[in-house]
Amino acid sequence: MKKGQKFGTQCVHAGEVPDPSHGAHTTPIYQTSTFVFENAEQGALRFAGKEKGYTYTRLMPNTPTHTAFVEKIAALEGGETGQTFSSGMAAITAVALSYLQQGDHLLSTDVVYGGTYELFSSILTKFGIHVSFVDTSNLETVKKNIQRNTRIIFLETPANPTMMVCDIDEIGAIARDIGALLVVDNTFATPCFQRPLTLGADAVVHSCTKYIGGHADLIGGIVVGKKEFINGMASVVNSTGGTMGPHEAWLCIRGVKTLHIRMEKHSSNAMNVAEFLEAHPKIEWVRYPGLPSHPQHEIAKKQMSGFGGMISFGIKGGTEAGRKLMNSVELCSLAVSLGAVDTLIEHPASMTHLNVPVEVRRKAGITDDLVRISVGIEEFEDIIADLDQALMKI
Ligand SMILES: Cc1ncc(COP(=O)(O)O)c(C=O)c1O
Repeated sequence: MKKGQKFGTQCVHAGEVPDPSHGAHTTPIYQTSTFVFENAEQGALRFAGKEKGYTYTRLMPNTPTHTAFVEKIAALEGGETGQTFSSGMAAITAVALSYLQQGDHLLSTDVVYGGTYELFSSILTKFGIHVSFVDTSNLETVKKNIQRNTRIIFLETPANPTMMVCDIDEIGAIARDIGALLVVDNTFATPCFQRPLTLGADAVVHSCTKYIGGHADLIGGIVVGKKEFINGMASVVNSTGGTMGPHEAWLCIRGVKTLHIRMEKHSSNAMNVAEFLEAHPKIEWVRYPGLPSHPQHEIAKKQMSGFGGMISFGIKGGTEAGRKLMNSVELCSLAVSLGAVDTLIEHPASMTHLNVPVEVRRKAGITDDLVRISVGIEEFEDIIADLDQALMKI
């Protein structure tokens, strides 16, 4: 990969070389669980970490297919290397288990994906890890909630599902000051629009299930950062066994080749849909980082080069009206997940964020009337026409 190449060129080329065995142009799927050694000495050297190479697919560095995918995302995020996982949640779990221990404090954005909330609030706390969920869009609140044992600051920005944005650069400085690690879930923005490692984060996590894969046909996760950070996860990765399968790694490689094109279309479509919704008489409120009405629009402009494909909004008439809308769409699919080529619509309070206690949800702005839409790459006029006909039925 040549330095200085533009983002789209890197999406297509980074991490990939013609297969050395037969010259296959496309990175092959190494669908194997184990690797044959030339002799016993070589096997011993590889297990001792004294010779580079593959050993067994659960163990880092997994397979050449995984390596190509990791190198691609690392190049796009501006990281040195990475590690893949069977899901975004497995990736976040591995970071937490690798870098937190009993007595440590984790400070997290108060609006995070429901699974992340459950992991932090119900599972990590069982092992004596202290967790605070705070409004990380407010720097004073972040500073006030720092503890002497704060070891990780975890941000989700833009946050699922309120679209709240927080200042990665400023919070990175706070983390460095206290010797904590800054970990950013970059699932919504993708490296196409936001590169947290270049803004001071120590690691980026992704649910590859979303925009990285891009086609709603796989579950996967990845962590990217400096070699030291990723190598520090080896023990947890190797012994908990949550790595991605070779076929998913290959699907991710294929997905990323069009990431730049898909993200531009997701983003321009979402801007059109957000403007349509904001002007609609039946809509109460809209949150999209690209709209001047978004509370952190200025921060979004500073750290993002595009605003992505996710929008949340509330309809006059609240939850019931939202249900009617979701039951009336025809082109959009009523489904959780996001980042697919097609438009998906869902109700976080009763679906993706059901496990977040209702008082916590409301305090963080995950109100009962909130409808989340993942705007696809269809033509925006058709998405708007579908929403319009559904709104007419309310
Ligand atoms: C922002 C964010 N992070 C992490 C996850 C978890 O990803 P996965 O479903 O791949 O485990 C999700 C899932 O929706 C998410 O939206």
